[in-house]
Amino acid sequence: MNDQLWYKDAIIYECPVKSFRDSNGDGIGDFKGLIEKLDYLEQLGITAIWILPFFPSPLRDDGYDIKDYYTVNPIYGDIEDFRHFVAEAHRRNIKVIIELVINHSSDQHPWFQRAIKAPRDSDERNYYVWSDDPEKYKEVRIIFQDFEKSNWTWHEEAGQYYWHRFFHHQPDLNFDHPPVQEEIFRILDFWAAFGVDGFRLDAIPYLFERENSSGENLLETHDFLKKLRAYIDKNHKGVMLLAEANMWPEDSAAYFGEGDECHMNFHFPVMPRLYMGLKKMDRSPIIEILNQTPQIPENCQWATFLRNHDELTLEMVTLEDRHYMWDQYAADQRARINLGIRLRLARLMDNDRRKIELMNVLLFSLPGTPVLYYGDEIGMGDDLTQEDRNGVRTPMQWNDQINGGFSEADTSLLYLPTVPDPEYHFSKINVRKQIDDTDSLFHWTKNLIALRKQLNVLGRGDLQFIEVANKSILVFSRSYKSEKILILINLSDQQLDLRLDVTILGTNKIKELFNAHVYPIDEDKVLNLELGAWDYKWLVSG
Ligand code: GLC
Ligand code: CA
Repeated sequence: MNDQLWYKDAIIYECPVKSFRDSNGDGIGDFKGLIEKLDYLEQLGITAIWILPFFPSPLRDDGYDIKDYYTVNPIYGDIEDFRHFVAEAHRRNIKVIIELVINHSSDQHPWFQRAIKAPRDSDERNYYVWSDDPEKYKEVRIIFQDFEKSNWTWHEEAGQYYWHRFFHHQPDLNFDHPPVQEEIFRILDFWAAFGVDGFRLDAIPYLFERENSSGENLLETHDFLKKLRAYIDKNHKGVMLLAEANMWPEDSAAYFGEGDECHMNFHFPVMPRLYMGLKKMDRSPIIEILNQTPQIPENCQWATFLRNHDELTLEMVTLEDRHYMWDQYAADQRARINLGIRLRLARLMDNDRRKIELMNVLLFSLPGTPVLYYGDEIGMGDDLTQEDRNGVRTPMQWNDQINGGFSEADTSLLYLPTVPDPEYHFSKINVRKQIDDTDSLFHWTKNLIALRKQLNVLGRGDLQFIEVANKSILVFSRSYKSEKILILINLSDQQLDLRLDVTILGTNKIKELFNAHVYPIDEDKVLNLELGAWDYKWLVSG
């Protein structure tokens, strides 16, 4: 198989360095701790790790506010630890994806500090986007609605307003200024030289601003991405670009270009519709959105997920659906944030193992490469008393010892407390316990990953929906070369009977992959079976 396309068959595990394991007892996870735990990730079976921003930062947006792009925040270790981490991951055949946060920097970045002191219209000032008029670009929406009133903030010393799509302490870099683009290529070179396998492009639709536009998905932004990709192909062949573009399918697919922009791209709209389908016990939201999703170039791949890391974002649903989702999944008002929900999978699924499994099976069956969020493989909970999205960034729960095995520090020193809720407390939910129990969610997830790794059809195959009478049952096939798989999903809480024509699998015997059950098929190639509440099946000819 062409290794350049590794991302098509990958299973990505998203992990904040600070949350995984603290090696030196200061209460903060670090690279040495992460290295200690790579064996665990290897055991789980994931093939790529995506680590969240680890650069020097005032940490007012979990590190997405960078003040130095060229080193490691000392609280996580040093650059040699990073180098060692990449080598240790690679030794286990785990690819490394890091963040390229280029839409904005921290206001503490020297570029910004220099810009505010530099004369208007100077090279230094122009690293960022300035205006005397806060009405400029007034069509542009505000993303962090719970926190910001405008995309412009007045800067006293500079005597001008500066532009920011996110928090006011994250000024947007000015991509119309050529030196800014050059800086980005330099940053890319720097990290690619460590052998990094991929970059997640944070908040990529917002690079440029133009009058009378939404300021999103502009042609100029796509042109820059084509340039970036050409640069990668020329200088860092095989390094993967993963776009974070929270957009409708059509606009989102544009980030693949003609196969000459990003290799991967998160599929935002499908995610909330998996939750809607489940709650409504109706497959139609899922089918509709996938039917609206354009074909993508051969060398490209969607990344799919059950939350955009720390948030179940509801940007890509109608107003009505957003309220439906809030009512159904975030009855506790504290769980609502901006245009989304800040809860973990287990809590969204009422800690019901059948529903947790079903959502994961959907994630692993639909087109795209699945991205798992750390801790979801053991069903971790969250903490709504924490601010912003911190309640889903709590320490990984390794065992029932002090601080859940995350750190030997005094508990008061932890970067965030462990989840206090008794139902999700580390004494109850932890890796050690689940490794020892072969029926645990950990082992189930591990098995799911192992199965998927044998089925290239799931990473590469096409998708065909198969119409069945009951709207709670979702049936589809995936095919790739001679490989075929039929996927059955019962979105309802009822046991349902199903009669299904399975000619497509072309044999007399059909095997279910999760339990190895073999079904006999009658002469008409009809399969009769029962699907339990929230049941799922992966069928292949066998
Ligand atoms: C992206 C990230 C989010 C971050 C924001 C600003 O949307 O997903 O976590 O807060 O960018 O950097
Ligand atoms: Ca530490």
